[in-house]
Amino acid sequence: MSQSAHAQDLHRFPPPQSLVRSAHVSGRAAYDRLVAEAEADYEGYWARLAREFVQWKTPFTRILDSDDAPFYKWFEDGTLNVSFNCLDRHVAAGLGDKVAIIFEADDGTVTRTTYAQLLAQTCRMANVLKSLGVRKGDRVVIYMPMSVEGVVAMQACARIGAVHSVVFGGFSAHSLRDRIADTGAVVVVTADEQVRGGRSLPLKALVDEALALGGCGAVRNVIVYRRTGGTIAWQPRDLWMHEAAAAQPDICEPEWVGAEHPLFLLYTSGSTGKPKGVQHSSGGYLVQAAVTTKWTFDLHDGDVFWCTADIGWITGHTYITYGPLAIGATEVVFEGVPTYPDAGRFWQMIERHKVSVFYTAPTAIRSLIKAAEANAAVHPDRYDLTSLRLLGSVGEPINPAAWEWYHKHIGGGRCPIVDTWWQTETGGQMITPLPGATTLVPGSCTLPFPGIMAAIVDETGGDLPNGHSGILVIKRPWPGMIRTIWGDDARYRSSYYPADLRGCYLAGDGAARDADTGYFTIGGRIDDVLNVSGHRMGTMEIESALVSCTDLVAEAAVVGRPDDTTGEAICAFVVLKRARPTDDEAAQLAAELRSWVGKEIGPIAKPKDIRFADNLPKTRSGKIMRRLLRSVARGEAVTQDISTLENPAILQQLSQAH
Ligand code: PRX
Repeated sequence: MSQSAHAQDLHRFPPPQSLVRSAHVSGRAAYDRLVAEAEADYEGYWARLAREFVQWKTPFTRILDSDDAPFYKWFEDGTLNVSFNCLDRHVAAGLGDKVAIIFEADDGTVTRTTYAQLLAQTCRMANVLKSLGVRKGDRVVIYMPMSVEGVVAMQACARIGAVHSVVFGGFSAHSLRDRIADTGAVVVVTADEQVRGGRSLPLKALVDEALALGGCGAVRNVIVYRRTGGTIAWQPRDLWMHEAAAAQPDICEPEWVGAEHPLFLLYTSGSTGKPKGVQHSSGGYLVQAAVTTKWTFDLHDGDVFWCTADIGWITGHTYITYGPLAIGATEVVFEGVPTYPDAGRFWQMIERHKVSVFYTAPTAIRSLIKAAEANAAVHPDRYDLTSLRLLGSVGEPINPAAWEWYHKHIGGGRCPIVDTWWQTETGGQMITPLPGATTLVPGSCTLPFPGIMAAIVDETGGDLPNGHSGILVIKRPWPGMIRTIWGDDARYRSSYYPADLRGCYLAGDGAARDADTGYFTIGGRIDDVLNVSGHRMGTMEIESALVSCTDLVAEAAVVGRPDDTTGEAICAFVVLKRARPTDDEAAQLAAELRSWVGKEIGPIAKPKDIRFADNLPKTRSGKIMRRLLRSVARGEAVTQDISTLENPAILQQLSQAH
């Protein structure tokens, strides 16, 4: 989608000269050289980076093994330990006293943890896990607040070769149970409570509830981090993290694992009702986490990096727990929410900790724009943000207006913005500007990271010329990629390597490349997956939650519609088991169903709109016409062919429904 040359000039932001001079990837020519290197010798390029960024216990001799494609293996005969790479090697290099994590609690209390301290805490926790019989390959579910202890729990698993699966603290007991059951976890690590926005919310109680739901028979122990000291029920299987850790030595020999040993499972939504356990490797994942952290955020000694994601999402895994620590950076970890005690919290924290590189989601930016416009006291212009030199965006498309505000008011017009496209499955950033090399265009994630073979194709995997929109694919495997879906190789293959795409990885997003620059613009999902506030939600998951309310709901269909703040909003069409409600009843019932979905999945899945109808629009073969529902949800005139609609009269009712 080419813009006129004039419009492009107005909205092009070349890298600042000061940054070009000092950047790890310095100037467009340097980027082009890396791309050429990867094209000329793809495996050699990644092997070079793997040797440069990771300390191997046994060096690898094989690079990429495609024999069993699409089950690719990288650096397979190499051995390493991820926690050793994130902690020990920095301490050994004399950086033991360097601050690894600046933690700011919800109430503003700040704790600094050095690399030496983080290593000691990780070793103690690793020894606790070992003392409970956790062995290499065992699964450990982590259901923790944003905390140093959460990072420690992840690193401790990595240290002993246990496979962690972090569950976001906003997920319900049901969702937690499903993940514990699917992984077959032997231990759950949690906290008594979490604190967000001045309020204490239960965590341990939800673990108890999840375990009581059944199907979690492998769980032997629950380790509890004492965050608030609030009252919780206690079971014989429970132990306090601080007591157990105090009894353990602060040295723990790392377990050396093969590069393909699974580091973690992370559940994400797909187009069926069942979330997928995305399995990541140790070696390839760490290589990509480390390289992208260093180059995309252009981190140097003295930088203070802050990624605002939660450790429950992939962004928190790669750009809090692994990438920054792998390269020995100093980072901020924040417990709370951007609006407490007021919507100036992020800006105040940037000022306080002299953050130089800031990475957040468009939804956060959009909601803080609104807050700043409504209340001058929390406007970023009132804070000293001069420590910033680089900004980042992740998780959803950033609209040009939000981009320009972020650039002007947060970045003071001088900080580049790296709009990074990637996914839970990709492990690390895939299409992104490099700040000292790429001219930015708001709304575009620009060009592939060197060594990532991104392309736009049609339904048969045929290349589309620049200027056309199509299906976003990755043509060659990359080190940080998903290895499989836990326990479901067939679903891995059919979801990501469908037969008609000629061996390309199917990302699930639509995209276009600019005719002149070749820059990528992401158009959003092409499957039944929504992106709400940068969080992935499957429409089928929400539908299953709604119909599991068997007293009330006969049928449900969920679609997305655009939303100014959250990107997309969840819109549910519901057929009740009883007559369609009156206006008064409808509000009450919608509230009931919202809280039901909150309990089934978690608050992030609550539909914004709930509309009641006597029926859903279906084809004669009984298939729900979702495209039509999407038009109705957006309030658009229905332009689709409705000749195959079984019950055309339903259309009018849906358009008027509450
Ligand atoms: O649709 C794309 C969108 O988020 C999806 C991946 O979601 P998840 O696995 O939860 O990972 C989010 C954090 C990496 C993608 O398929 N997405 C992610 N980043 C961008 C984006 N859409 C547009 N621009 C981005 N920068």
